[in-house]
Amino acid sequence: MDKFKIAGGIPLSGELPVSGSKNSALPALAACLLTEEPVTLHRIPKVKDILTMENLLAYTGASVSHDDATVRVEAKSLDRPEAPYEVVKTMRASSLVLGPLVGRTGRARVSMPGGCAIGSRPINLHVSALEQLGATLEQSYGYVEAHAPEGLRGAHIHFDRITVTGTEDVLMAAVLARGETVIRNAAREPEVKDLADLLVKMGAKIEGAGTPIIRVQGVERLHGTDHTIIPDRIEAGTFLLAGAISRGDVLVKDCVPEHVAALAIKMRQAGAEVEEKDGEALRVRCSGRPTAIDVTTEEYPGFATDLQAQYMAWMTTAHGISFVTETIFENRFMHALELARMGANIRIEGRQAIVAGEERLTGAQVLASDLRASASLVLAALVAQGETIIDRVYHMDRGYERIEEKLAGAGARIERI
Ligand code: EPU
Repeated sequence: MDKFKIAGGIPLSGELPVSGSKNSALPALAACLLTEEPVTLHRIPKVKDILTMENLLAYTGASVSHDDATVRVEAKSLDRPEAPYEVVKTMRASSLVLGPLVGRTGRARVSMPGGCAIGSRPINLHVSALEQLGATLEQSYGYVEAHAPEGLRGAHIHFDRITVTGTEDVLMAAVLARGETVIRNAAREPEVKDLADLLVKMGAKIEGAGTPIIRVQGVERLHGTDHTIIPDRIEAGTFLLAGAISRGDVLVKDCVPEHVAALAIKMRQAGAEVEEKDGEALRVRCSGRPTAIDVTTEEYPGFATDLQAQYMAWMTTAHGISFVTETIFENRFMHALELARMGANIRIEGRQAIVAGEERLTGAQVLASDLRASASLVLAALVAQGETIIDRVYHMDRGYERIEEKLAGAGARIERI
């Protein structure tokens, strides 16, 4: 199993380029199932979750071809509208094909995502919304089966709580449903907006994506198109924190500054200089320890749960005590125990982590438990004294493209062993 070996204490300097968004590319790939015409997607990151999604599309009968960061999908006929356990067991986002498959073919059989290190990951909100669109859903033997032999019909859906992939799933089902669908309490994440932009290019009629109320007028069919995926805001945020924690000076390139505004504000309060460059890059500079600043995760445009672990890593080096509160997932503090092995002082009380900043962290052998937790360990290792060995970096490979090459390009002493 691959590990990272990182020698800490070197301030990063130079450029860190951001890849396309994993969490935008996943629903975009699923959306290709909605038309028999070819769809070409650009800026697709080469990460494990994307390869899994591509395998899944191929399993259903679509043809998928690559040319570097461009992927072309042609779903002429879908002989097997299924997502089997063997293909999706490592990826929670498998439920994203439920909506498009049932919308296009009237049936779907999808392996249920199990729990994972950050929480239970239920899909009850996806299921109930699809039922409101007229599908019959049954859960058995670890699968959810959906049937809508007469096709789906528009409905008024109100999500009990905000769900990102739930909103995306239902949006993809609604575009081919008869009549109007209104989705209330919809997720406002940029990835939802990006998906809606793609669907509109394919001929869908959607208004309000990016706001809590999305209106969809169903159409008979969608057609092929070309689309470029938005930059990965979580990778951009991780790089901003890499620049700051290493006490360096870094240009985070090819990002959308507005998408990381909540993080940038906290970073400035904590003492980092974060400066926007031409609307598509951010320069971060930080010469010493930050000041402790509290953070509470929220749905977009609030502070992203996917940046909580990385922010906490920075706060372990702060002057003072900060409170990091996680409101989205019930168990997203696994990184705290590993950070403690590097000398961090963190106490967990329910959904709150109390982080007392330390003058220095020290290198250690640590274990990555999930994607963003592994990123937080890499960040801590950049500032720690001595050498850190991070085990199970396959978690990192699920969502960060060539992370070690990118960090090494800005001076980090990191190698994959
Ligand atoms: N929830 C339910 N029922 C559902 C769906 C969600 O109770 O049917 C709960 C979840 O358990 C969670 C909350 O609602 O407590 C929010 O979950 P959401 O559905 O928004 O999460 P998701 O769509 O499964 C996406 C991202 C995650 C990111 C979250 C929150 C993708 C593929 N995944 O997950 O990304 O953390 O939104 O922003 O878009 C990551 O990239 O590391 C990652 C975990």
